[in-house]
This record gives sequence, structure tokens and C-alpha cells, in this order.
Amino acid sequence: MTVIARPSTFRIKSFGCQMNVYDGERMADLLREQGITRAADGEEADLVVLNTCHIREKAAEKVYSDIGRLSKAGRKSGRTPLIAVAGCVAQAEGEEIMARAPAVSMVVGPQAYHRLPAMLDSALQGERSTDTDMPPIAKFDALPARRRSAPGAFLTVQEGCDKFCTYCVVPYTRGAEISRPYRDLVTEAQALVEAGAREITLLGQNVNAWSGTDDGGRPVGLDGLIRVIARLPDLKRIRYTTSHPADVTDGLIAAHGEIDKLMPFLHLPVQAGSDRILRAMNRSHTADGYLRLLERFREARPDIALSGDFIVGFPSETEADFAETLNLVDAVGYAQCFSFKYSPRPGTPAASMDGQVPAEVMDDRLQRLQSALNRHQRAFNRASVGKTCDVMVERRGKRPGQWLGKSPWLQSVHFDGDYAVGDFVEVELVEAGDNSLAGRVLRTVGR
Ligand code: SAH
Ligand code: SF4
Ligand code: F3S
Repeated sequence: MTVIARPSTFRIKSFGCQMNVYDGERMADLLREQGITRAADGEEADLVVLNTCHIREKAAEKVYSDIGRLSKAGRKSGRTPLIAVAGCVAQAEGEEIMARAPAVSMVVGPQAYHRLPAMLDSALQGERSTDTDMPPIAKFDALPARRRSAPGAFLTVQEGCDKFCTYCVVPYTRGAEISRPYRDLVTEAQALVEAGAREITLLGQNVNAWSGTDDGGRPVGLDGLIRVIARLPDLKRIRYTTSHPADVTDGLIAAHGEIDKLMPFLHLPVQAGSDRILRAMNRSHTADGYLRLLERFREARPDIALSGDFIVGFPSETEADFAETLNLVDAVGYAQCFSFKYSPRPGTPAASMDGQVPAEVMDDRLQRLQSALNRHQRAFNRASVGKTCDVMVERRGKRPGQWLGKSPWLQSVHFDGDYAVGDFVEVELVEAGDNSLAGRVLRTVGR
């Protein structure tokens, strides 16, 4: 039996969505409890966790090339790290990874990572193990209390998805929709704020499907949870992502007009502008229904910044369908967006649909869509010039004395001066670029 020395340092590389970033932080908490510390920047780690994403082709391919690079570097230095593959590729292709990549000693799915310490013990005995069970709440119960936090923190409130959009792997990799209990979330939010969080982003694949019961046994939705968390005195900002049009409630819309700490930003993916394509995608909304929803958010909070996701080249998408996507983009005037080429995911219904769109057509449509989205983003940024707002100081910029942070509308703002991460400054937005704005600091508001 090969016995391997216990690792003293780790590195976690998270790909994909913010829920993976949250999971990465929680795995770090678990490893720290084992006495393993994060490797310093630029230093080789004894244990590397690749926290993977399966949403599109390239995401999965990256994992294999990372594994290859790690084992090659290890052979050269004579110190191969222990490698764990976590996240959605682990869930979808666990067996395949084990077969294809002998350098990997642990494969752990997104609902099983609380078992990482036990798997590590086995790995140290030279045993490779795979755990892709899906007992979601058990995971959260088994995680240690939050003791550290950056000023901007993530809090997963809901996981999984029952929507089964025909192109998407998430219902298979993350499992069925579950909401974490109300009390656990309030406790975790409190702990995060005590540990230094000033902005909390509530996370879920369908975050607005979250539901729970409060301490008095009354039903609460996401807006109710936001209201309660907003009462934490030291918490300055609340955000949430990602929402689904089918789960938008009157209460959530109203919350945007009523809760100052709830930031004026909404990420509400639509995917396409053609109702025929939306039906084929199994999205439950029409383009018009989606536009009407956005109007209601704008009535509640006129300055709300809108964001979305788009897929071009879904099977059978015609030029006329795509033109409807462009029309929708112009009708909304998004502040920012994500857009992707359709990627057939093994096992999803769309992967075997007729009318797969050729790569060149997808490239062309993506380019045209992105240039429209960029035009709107620029217009949104330009319209912000002259406004005054608070910015949370997040990190240093490229130039000495330069700092970066986010406006309430989630724009990157850079400004000069002498600050600390977590400070809040009041700035006047003085200049707009495509992806960021320059701010002139008027005063420091506090921490
Ligand atoms: N739950 C969220 C988003 C989850 S995935 C929602 O429903 O809106 C993030 C984004 O990836 C999706 O909104 C979609 O635009 C994109 N995406 C998902 N599957 C894809 C696929 N097979 N090909 C290309 N893009 C995809
Ligand atoms: Fe995927 Fe659709 Fe669920 Fe979003 S709502 S995670 S796109 S299946
Ligand atoms: Fe990717 Fe899984 Fe998130 S597939 S986008 S990491 S839920």
C-alpha cells in the first residue's frame, strides 16, 4: 500500500458560475479544518482541487488540460500534487475522469463535497475514490460555521433546478430544486457580516424559487428573506442571482422599490427573442411576457440595471428567429449581458434535435449579438456619467494608488486615493468606458 504524505497546502480553482465560487470557499473551509492552508500565490500546492463547470464544451475540456499540466509539472519537479476534481464535470463524468486521468485521486460531485476530508484520508492510503451522491441538505449541515469573509460574500440559498430547459445540464449535475432552511440562512448571513461581509449576494440556479418558513412558521419567499437580512446593521448591500422569469413574484418586484440595501440590478436570463425557439428550449415564458416583467421591475425601481443571458444557434434557429433576439435586445436596453453559442450537452434533449446550426452561422450571430449588447452597455455606462453613488472598495487597480469597486448597478468603477478593501466611498462618475467607469471620490462613507 502506498502511503502519501499529508498535504500541508491546497489550491482550489473554480470555474463556471458563482455557486461554484461559493462551493470553492466552503471546500477551503473544510480543508482549513484539516490543518491544510491555502498555498501562497505562485507557490505549488500539495493538493489541487479543480472545481469544474459542465455548462459548455470548452469548460469540460479545460479540466483535462489542467490535469495534464499539473501531472507534467509534477513529473518535472518530482512533487506531483494530489488532484481532486469537484463540481459539475465531476458529477456528469465521474467514471470517465477516473478512467481517463490516472493522476486524479478524488472525484467529488457538487452535493457531496462535505465528504472531501474522508476522501482525502483514503487518497493518503493510495485509494482513489468517487462520490457523486446527491443529498444536498446534508452537505450544508456538515459544513463548518463561517469564520472568514471578504467584504463581498456569496451565500447559496437555493440549489438545483427542475426547469429542464432542453439545452441545459444543470438539472442533471446539481439535482432537483431545493431551498436551504430560513434559519440556517439568517444564521449564515449573520456570521458572514460578523466576519466582515458588507455585501451579500444570495445565490441559486433559480434563486427566486427559494421558499421557506420563518421562525413563526409563516411562509417566506426570497423577498421576505431579503427583508430580514437587510436588518443586519453592518450589512450595506444585498444582491441575488440568477433569477428565472417563471419564479418572479409581486413581492420581489415590490422589494426593489422598498428596500434601500437591495441593489438596483436584476439578472433575468431570457435566452432568445423568438417564441418558437423559447418553446423548443422549454422556457416557460414568451418574449412579450418577459418584456412585461421587466417593465414592472422598472416601475418599481426606475434606475434598475438589467442583465440577461442569451444562446445563439439553438437547433432550428433561423435568421428570422435570430432577428427577434436582436429586436428584444434593442427593446430592453441591457446594462450588461452574457451571450453564448449553443453547445450540445450529452444527454440533453436539444443535443439530438434536428436542425443543428453550423458553427460559422453561430459565430456570425454571436458576433452580431455581442456588438448590439456592447452598444447598449456603452450607452448605459455613458448615461451614468454625472451620477453620484456609493462604491465598495474591492481591490487595487493596475496603477499605484488606483482602486476598483462596483457601483450599485454592478459597473466596475476605478478611482484614486488611499483606501482599504471594504471601505465605502461616495464618487461622482466622471467618465465612461465600455467596461468600466472612472469615479472622482467625494468622500469616504465608512466601512
Ligand atoms: N439558471 C440560470 C442559468 C444557468 S446556466 C437560468 O436559467 O437562467 C447559465 C447560462 O448558460 C444560461 O442562462 C444559458 O444562457 C447558458 N447555457 C446553458 N446551457 C447552455 C448550452 N448547452 N449551450 C450554451 N449556453 C448554455
Ligand atoms: Fe438550466 Fe434552464 Fe435550469 Fe437555468 S432554468 S439552470 S438554463 S435548466
Ligand atoms: Fe457550470 Fe455547474 Fe454552475 S455546470 S454554470 S458550475 S451549476
